[in-house]
Amino acid sequence: MDEQIIRSTDNDALSCRYSLTLNTYITDPYLPHILTGFQKFLKYETTAPRRALGALTKPKLPVINRGSFIRIRSIDIIIKRFIDQFKESSKDGIRILNLGAGSDTRAFDILTLNKEKVEVIEVDFPDSVKFKKATILDNQFLSNVIGYPFDNEAHRSDEKFYHGLDHTELKTERYRLVPMDLRETDKLKSFLSELSVKPTLIISECMLCYLNTLESEALLTTLHENIKQGVLAIYDPLGGEGGFGHVMIDNLRLRNLPLTTLLEFNTLKKYHTRLQSIGFNKVEIDHMYNILNHWLPQDEIRRISRIEFLDEIEELKLLLEHYCLSLSTWGITFDHGLRFNDSV
Ligand SMILES: C[S@@+](CC[C@H](N)C(=O)[O-])C[C@H]1O[C@@H](n2cnc3c(N)ncnc32)[C@H](O)[C@@H]1O
Repeated sequence: MDEQIIRSTDNDALSCRYSLTLNTYITDPYLPHILTGFQKFLKYETTAPRRALGALTKPKLPVINRGSFIRIRSIDIIIKRFIDQFKESSKDGIRILNLGAGSDTRAFDILTLNKEKVEVIEVDFPDSVKFKKATILDNQFLSNVIGYPFDNEAHRSDEKFYHGLDHTELKTERYRLVPMDLRETDKLKSFLSELSVKPTLIISECMLCYLNTLESEALLTTLHENIKQGVLAIYDPLGGEGGFGHVMIDNLRLRNLPLTTLLEFNTLKKYHTRLQSIGFNKVEIDHMYNILNHWLPQDEIRRISRIEFLDEIEELKLLLEHYCLSLSTWGITFDHGLRFNDSV
């Protein structure tokens, strides 16, 4: 699959997050800073900057907002519970490893709330990393959050600044932004082998689906074999057994994104089996409609229902049943207390 097209899916993720803040579903003090950087540097990255920029702030339908909200909230819940359980009990602290992090702002929030014992590593394609790196280095607030010295001198000309940046890792004591194509298993293996052993939460939020079956199998196996104490949270689309999955595939094909695994691991059961066959022996999974109803307190569900009118409840259910969240745990016991589908 074309790397540039896969990378551009992050613009969708950013615009969905932006739409959530605009509609008060979530607050995200880091997002305006990321958005400013993206708006500034996108013109050096794409052949159609006007269209890409317009899409970043395009309003989203209520059903899309609800879907994005539960996606973001559920991963936030997992991160919080992981930090709450392991931060103090692990003498060497913990690590959050975000695969295909794109423009995600969570790292900034995690580092702000946890001044010590929590390390965050974000991985994405080298060009995406350069993009985020430019955004961080150009922004005093974000640089401060990650603990990188802010250099005023570097900002006289945006274009000069951007083109002068290389694709190397951005690294501070508690944060790493790592350029890597996750399909390059040998590189990933050598990267992981240099990390110390500590409880590690790996996040794959809408990333694994861009790999084909063999690539995703290689990635999952490498994670399983090279991380000793891990919890892997994967959020992915799920093709399902009806026509919906085929419509999803057709729409994505129009964008040159042929997501073949969507139909191969199209049910919770098959997705579960896929993970177990890699060697993850504790796997929990559910689709996002159940997660919306089981994980959020009633007052929060009421709050988001009041934000904007949604009469397509059946449409929301259909949509959310076509996305799943799985948690695979090995080498540690994660007492998250969250309800998953026990019939899988
Ligand atoms: C849909 S975006 C999701 C971004 C972020 N995880 C979120 O949910 O907000 C997918 C991200 O995965 C990254 N990605 C996909 N395949 C990758 C690969 N082989 N190596 C590194 N990053 C990859 C893309 O560049 C993009 O940033």
